[in-house]
Amino acid sequence: MEFEEMWSDRLKSLKGNAIREIFKLLANPNVVSFAGGFPTLGLLPKKEISAIANEILTGEDAEKILQYGGTEGYSPLLESGLNYAKRFGVQGEIKNTLVISGGQQGIDLMFKAFINKGDVVLVENPTYLACLHILKTYEGVAVGVDSDEDGINIEDLENKIKTYRPKIFYVVADFSNPTGKTLSLEKRKAICEITAKYGVIVIEDNPYGEIRFSGEKLPSIKSFDKTGNVVYVTSFSKTIAPGLRTGIAVGDERIIRKMTIGKQAVDVHTSNLSQAIVDLYLRRGLLQPHLKEIIPVYKSKKEAMYGAIQKYMPLDRVKFTNPDGGLFIWGEFFDKSVDLDKCFMDCVTKTDTAYVSGSSFFAKEGITNCLRLNYSNASIEQIENGIKKLGNYFKENL
Ligand SMILES: Cc1ncc(COP(=O)(O)O)c(C=O)c1O
Repeated sequence: MEFEEMWSDRLKSLKGNAIREIFKLLANPNVVSFAGGFPTLGLLPKKEISAIANEILTGEDAEKILQYGGTEGYSPLLESGLNYAKRFGVQGEIKNTLVISGGQQGIDLMFKAFINKGDVVLVENPTYLACLHILKTYEGVAVGVDSDEDGINIEDLENKIKTYRPKIFYVVADFSNPTGKTLSLEKRKAICEITAKYGVIVIEDNPYGEIRFSGEKLPSIKSFDKTGNVVYVTSFSKTIAPGLRTGIAVGDERIIRKMTIGKQAVDVHTSNLSQAIVDLYLRRGLLQPHLKEIIPVYKSKKEAMYGAIQKYMPLDRVKFTNPDGGLFIWGEFFDKSVDLDKCFMDCVTKTDTAYVSGSSFFAKEGITNCLRLNYSNASIEQIENGIKKLGNYFKENL
């Protein structure tokens, strides 16, 4: 059958998410990948999760868990998940809370609720690539806002709001993906004020806030929200396990209701088993000891990568971020004509090392002089060797 003429307008010109496509290329086990954003294997809490799962499935509520559940979420998790969000100063009640199948679903449901064809969403320059991808599936238009060392440029945000009249501003305040940057306290407050003033909804996406190596934890943008225009989205993917596909959204009751209606049409509800596991994991206080175990490992990997960058990268031509947390370091060549898309395959073939080219993280096409490096999914030795090979490749070829 010929499908080309049959695809929906929404998806016909859409290519696969760049990173998902790279995974296919990286099936070769010899390739060291700095491309993904996976938690470190060996650190996922499988012993605790399997004990909890066993307890749930042999307990008296086992059939309740295996039955259909409410779209809003499993009641105990609505409570424990909301308490978890409160760690970042998020205010709300159960009626403001929705369990989502990962943070990515939170973004999807927000766009589903608000975005018509041609509607503008402001994003950071660069931003989380799946946000751009999801937006395209709703035929929305992403416009990038410039970024300083401490995140979004507030003046540019206000200018872009006035020029484009966006419905939504999407932002990762803590250890952003891809840059690892964190928004200062002043900027969090300013974002709240400006977006409230112009009636722009904010999606504050916070999957990495708990993965902090140094510096003080900052209150969320949502904690300064006086008008209900900020929707806070968080996820247990990076703190417990991504395969559980569980997260929490907190926002204005009317928005949460609309997201719930959207979710009914997608997956009915997040897996009850995942929800019950996450709930008991949180209630039993297992998260803090787990974070205490994983944070030093991520920190040492970040330090190994940043240290290797200092030794091997051509730093007269490229600068890198040195994040206080999260999973990513971002590099930017000063020469904008450097094309990291074009040399990607050649680089992987010659060095057996993969990065993600930065072009997929920008609202605007054609920015090819940046790259994202992930440090959580490689060993310290692989990080040292991989960065050395990448550095040499860049010195010789770019
Ligand atoms: C900024 C950001 N938001 C959301 C997600 C989605 O994660 P999940 O759907 O697994 O919660 C990710 C995952 O990498 C991310 O980096």
